[in-house]
Amino acid sequence: MIDPIFGWIEAERRRQEEGLELIASENYASPAVLAALGSVLTNKYAEGLPGRRYYGGCEYVDEVERIAQERLKTLFGAEWVNVQPHSGAQANEAVLLALLKPGQKILSFELAHGGHLTHGSPLNSSGRLYNVRHYGVRSDTYLLDYDQIHEKAREFRPAVLMAGASSYPRDWDWTALRSIADEVGAILVADIAHPAGLIAAGLLNNPLPHCHIVTSTTHKTLRGPRGGIIMMGKDFDNPFGELTPKGTPKKMSALLDTAVFPGVQGGPHMHVIAAKAVAFGEALQPAFREYSRQVIRNAQALADSLKERGYTILTGGTDNHIVLVDLRNKNITGREAEKVLEKAGITVNKNLIPYDPQPPLIASGIRLGTPALTTRGMNESDMRQIAAWIDEALTSASDETHLKRLKDTIREYLRAYPLPYAPAAPTPLTHDFASAG
Ligand SMILES: Cc1ncc(COP(=O)(O)O)c(C=O)c1O
Repeated sequence: MIDPIFGWIEAERRRQEEGLELIASENYASPAVLAALGSVLTNKYAEGLPGRRYYGGCEYVDEVERIAQERLKTLFGAEWVNVQPHSGAQANEAVLLALLKPGQKILSFELAHGGHLTHGSPLNSSGRLYNVRHYGVRSDTYLLDYDQIHEKAREFRPAVLMAGASSYPRDWDWTALRSIADEVGAILVADIAHPAGLIAAGLLNNPLPHCHIVTSTTHKTLRGPRGGIIMMGKDFDNPFGELTPKGTPKKMSALLDTAVFPGVQGGPHMHVIAAKAVAFGEALQPAFREYSRQVIRNAQALADSLKERGYTILTGGTDNHIVLVDLRNKNITGREAEKVLEKAGITVNKNLIPYDPQPPLIASGIRLGTPALTTRGMNESDMRQIAAWIDEALTSASDETHLKRLKDTIREYLRAYPLPYAPAAPTPLTHDFASAG
């Protein structure tokens, strides 16, 4: 008897294969990444760092973690990295724990304008523990307003200036942010969870030379396993005067390492660290640069094609993998659009637009992203077809038969774009759990 879990995994694999995946934070990891994730390394406890563990038997996982560190340093030009955070959220939590005492100040990008929960939302520990204010985008252009950030930083004098977003389709000016941070004596932290792969490929501004500390996830444009990382372009003496037992200033790297473990985590997930190493190795190949170029070209083609069909694209286009669509002129909310598109086999997420009159669970927009479909081998002409299907679905929102027909058409179309991985079940399935309900 096969465990039904494998039936559900196979059902999910088929869902991923048969639908158009436009969620900007998702991607398809390679078979090599999946092999490392499903390896015996999951059995190993390895608290500590390579060469300095609290457990025996770490000689092989030490090698794995060292390779992950070295590849990551090469990828971004970092002097120091920590590859252990279990997720982007925990990377951010660890950085704030290393930098701040409860009650100290953070200035970060407004969640409702595209920021992230872990940058000071009251729903997250960052908002509960620290004193947070936000900057946002301009109401006319929806672009970041560096003058506003400057003004707010001078007035609020944060200990941490935090940058980075979950839904911002444009590049960031790290040099401008660093000069603001320096003027007010703040530590500049960049969270590049979304565009990390595009930055690694050299296609967007790299924050490493400018920001004190950089965090990221590894599973979005970077196309690795789910996970987090912390990096520094250059290590520096911690600004709090903490000393080592020898009486020399403790380096920021030491504070960050102890903030990850034991600050916010226990044992590192060595199978995930192995999979990160594999993904970093893939990202160092020339093919990854070409893939990343296509991700951006596809996002731009999708934005242009939707514009031609009368859709409002926030900021007028995109520099990265994200397209933000304001649906207000189409008389459909983000929530409705998400549901209708799902019925047609197109997966997107509803998204607040800046200054949105709707609450988050309804929202006036949708966020589209091209990393996953580009991994399947799609190009600009596919994007034009997808824009046509999105429009077709949204204009037949109440026609269930039409949506079902569209879903069938899309499933057929996707046969030409196989997923990069094989069925997940360990042995042939004898029972189709998904269809049996
Ligand atoms: C900017 C940003 N930071 C952090 C995270 C959190 O990453 P994770 O889901 O791995 O905790 C996300 C995830 O969407 C994100 O977009």
